[in-house]
Amino acid sequence: MIHIRKANNQDAKQAVILISSVLKEIFGEKPLPNYDDVNNIEGAYKFFIVAEDNGKIIGTTAVKEDESSARLSRVYIHKDYRRRGLGTLLVIKALKFCAKKYKRVFLTTYKEMGVEGFYEKFGFKVYKRNEKIWMEKFLSPPIIKETPVPEISK
Ligand SMILES: CC(C)(COP(=O)(O)OP(=O)(O)OC[C@H]1O[C@@H](n2cnc3c(N)ncnc32)[C@H](O)[C@@H]1OP(=O)(O)O)[C@@H](O)C(=O)NCCC(=O)NCCS
Repeated sequence: MIHIRKANNQDAKQAVILISSVLKEIFGEKPLPNYDDVNNIEGAYKFFIVAEDNGKIIGTTAVKEDESSARLSRVYIHKDYRRRGLGTLLVIKALKFCAKKYKRVFLTTYKEMGVEGFYEKFGFKVYKRNEKIWMEKFLSPPIIKETPVPEISK
């Protein structure tokens, strides 16, 4: 059964295995980036969740803080578990977290990943293209109910 939970530093090893295998699948045998941040889940991220199937991590999604915006990152689903709604579920959870604290959330992706359409579903829009594709979404603040001014009895 698939279970989604908050990650901790003990999950780093499995998270790196998943992320590096997905990157290898997309980019081939290019030199792999370093994973210092994933090896320090609790220190480097404001939010990090994993999806696991019988104890094996098969999905990750995280949020970092970057110049007062939220940066959505590490959105990876194991290839055997894609197109079942899991990526959507993890991103929605991350966006709910972001909406509590941030006005803007952004992410970077690569043409090779072909996921602009996936993020557009959540309302992200491309705002810059260089070696990466930069996408952003503005978040509405939580609605604060207006309460009537209490009557002051004299
Ligand atoms: C992108 C990714 C996280 C999506 O996860 P997922 O669990 O497969 O996504 P979902 O099942 O929730 O997808 C829901 C919808 O998003 C869209 N979608 C999903 N993956 C897509 C893709 N690669 N390209 C375009 N649209 C996509 C589809 O409309 C899909 O609905 P459908 O299956 O009914 O057509 C997953 O494909 C993945 O890990 N890819 C490799 C890593 C990657 O590129 N990560 C992004 C880093 S920026």
